Amino acid sequence: MLLVHLSDLHCGAETFSPKMLATAIKEINALKPDVVIITGDVTNSGLFDEYKLAARYIGKLRCSRVLVGSGNHDYEHTGFLLWDHFFPRPEMLVLDEVLIAHLRTARPDRDTGEVGYRQLVWFDEVLRKHEDKFKIVALHHHLVPIPDTGTRPNIVVDAGDALRTLIAGKANLVLCGHKHRPWRLSVDGLPIVHAGSVSCRRLRGFFANSYNIIRVERGSLDVELKIVGGKRISFERVLEGYDAISSEVKPVR
Ligand SMILES: [Fe+2]
Repeated sequence: MLLVHLSDLHCGAETFSPKMLATAIKEINALKPDVVIITGDVTNSGLFDEYKLAARYIGKLRCSRVLVGSGNHDYEHTGFLLWDHFFPRPEMLVLDEVLIAHLRTARPDRDTGEVGYRQLVWFDEVLRKHEDKFKIVALHHHLVPIPDTGTRPNIVVDAGDALRTLIAGKANLVLCGHKHRPWRLSVDGLPIVHAGSVSCRRLRGFFANSYNIIRVERGSLDVELKIVGGKRISFERVLEGYDAISSEVKPVR
């Protein structure tokens, strides 16, 4: 099963690059993924016109399974009232081999995220009900700190509780967005993969727009990073830093 994970489109921002997003969508359509997962911040300020723009771009993805989750920027200016109108798609997919679920961590007018007790209780049951599947959990905010993301809090306020639920429920993969820094790490055997930003020039530590290409085959996992308009590279090289990839990164437009 082929999945594409993208994040942080920031449609409407001064730093939004329509060219990058259009290029990424073209590339993703050519990959013919089984599922596309978007981990939030599809808009920059949660405004009506930004939602329209984001929905127009996301509607260009030629994939029957597009799972769109919200980010803190989408909930600004009462944008949370618009979310279900523009993105009424289900937030959970149960397929033959794989369960994919989005946890809502954005809260109105707050940059900090929270999973919340009730959502965790619900998700604990979901994980146990689907114990035979490869279980992928997507959320906008971080569960653990990653490099190059500044000093402001960016993990969910209940990260400890969330990690306990995901590890005890034997989740197989966590996908995050938020700070526009691709990264990969694992906690007690649970892989956590961060997407960079697909189309926002506000980048950190990794100076190219990118998205992740994920393959799950019979319980095994392979994750690569795709530079928009550029090469596919292994996450090992992403973790090595800018020098390792500088020859493959065109200046950000
Ligand atoms: Fe963002």
